[in-house]
Amino acid sequence: MNNPVEAIRNTGVERLMLGFSNLRETREQRPMVLTKGDGVFVTDEDGKRFLDASASFYCAALGYSNERLMQAAIRQMQDMPFYVSAQQRTVPVVIELAERLAALSPIPDAHVAFGATGSEANEFALKFMRYRNTYLGKPEKKKMISRLGSYHGGTLLTAGLGGSKTLHDAFALPMEDHLLVSQPDFFNNATPDETEADFTDRMIGEVEQIIAQEGAATIGAFVAEPLSFSAGLVIPPEGYFNRLTTLLAENDILFIDDEVITGYGRTGQMYGANTLGFVPDIMSCAKAMSGAYFPISATIVAGDIYRDLEAHSDLQGLFAHAGTYAGHPVGAAVALEMLNIIDETDLPGQVREKAPVFARRLEALADHPAVADVRTIGLAGAVQLKAEGANATAAGALADTGKRLAAAAEARGLIIRITGPSAVIAPPLIISLEEIDLLFDRFEAALDDVTG
Ligand SMILES: Cc1ncc(COP(=O)(O)O)c(C=O)c1O
Repeated sequence: MNNPVEAIRNTGVERLMLGFSNLRETREQRPMVLTKGDGVFVTDEDGKRFLDASASFYCAALGYSNERLMQAAIRQMQDMPFYVSAQQRTVPVVIELAERLAALSPIPDAHVAFGATGSEANEFALKFMRYRNTYLGKPEKKKMISRLGSYHGGTLLTAGLGGSKTLHDAFALPMEDHLLVSQPDFFNNATPDETEADFTDRMIGEVEQIIAQEGAATIGAFVAEPLSFSAGLVIPPEGYFNRLTTLLAENDILFIDDEVITGYGRTGQMYGANTLGFVPDIMSCAKAMSGAYFPISATIVAGDIYRDLEAHSDLQGLFAHAGTYAGHPVGAAVALEMLNIIDETDLPGQVREKAPVFARRLEALADHPAVADVRTIGLAGAVQLKAEGANATAAGALADTGKRLAAAAEARGLIIRITGPSAVIAPPLIISLEEIDLLFDRFEAALDDVTG
């Protein structure tokens, strides 16, 4: 290695611990280092340009060079770069954003608490459930039901809500009060003789059973995403949410809808709840809410729940909950501009218009010899891979194929996200029809590369 810059690049990154990476690999092998973004493309330090079909953890809804979002941040930085929203003090953009989010929400008479991350939005939702139930004289009603394979965040409590047994064992999770049920993934979890209706019956039956077993008096909330991206874009069977929300309401269990990925247009409506047709008690929002240009999240609470929180805070003298960066003014200003853009450009409508082209290209991959299944909704899709060779269901073989596919895609200038046996494709929502073609041309070529 004669070039000193190259030599440094090949040493890896010694001091940085990168998440969802092998820590040793990061130290030994330089990760992809991105230095520029334009539209749906990002460029690395070597000048190589990639179409980002992952929207960077599914959040950069407007891509990487939206001038209006940047200007909104700059203006707020100049006016008032920070003031904490707590102790009866706040700033105008935070008030305005709460009003806008409440009005947009499918939840009746909504009230909004801010955070900085999606994990906080979920964790706060659960904290509020406990605060309400202690006020109502039911402090033991605090267990949480969630679904294996989901992802609700990186804190201890939220990590315990999803993931796999392996992940739980690695972090000695879950902590107390977690109850886990199956993912409503018909393709992967149905038995061979089950119809979709039978499968839905079984999934709902599992929840009924756990409620009967533990007692509704001990269960405070059920947490779910409308579509589980981390489980490989699970699109629930017809009637699942309808029956689930009815069952939860009958047992006075709050339904916490994690809209961290699905919020703000991904499914072709403002929220996944709109697309799937349910009304939650609490919603967690983050990611695309600010186009990901600044961290901000929201826990949006129904009016009847809010009134109990307010009564409890009155009783206690204060609502003993805050976060220094909960509702950061710059994040709030960026999110307000994001909502303006969503409104002015009808971003969900744009998604609905482009979705058939996206679906046509994705569904054409169903016959590829490396593909076991394809699933799509709005501007999100999953291509589930087949394991090669005799050991056709081995997780190890699938992980290897997934890793090789991601590398082949990168070599062809495409970033995709592999989750379990599936490649999940969810580009920035501003992607053009030509760019959708380019994305799938590159993806298909990468699939061919790994199948030889
Ligand atoms: C569905 C869902 N919920 C919550 C989170 C956690 O959000 P954050 O990483 O901002 O804490 C994520 C993050 O990927 C997510 O995908």
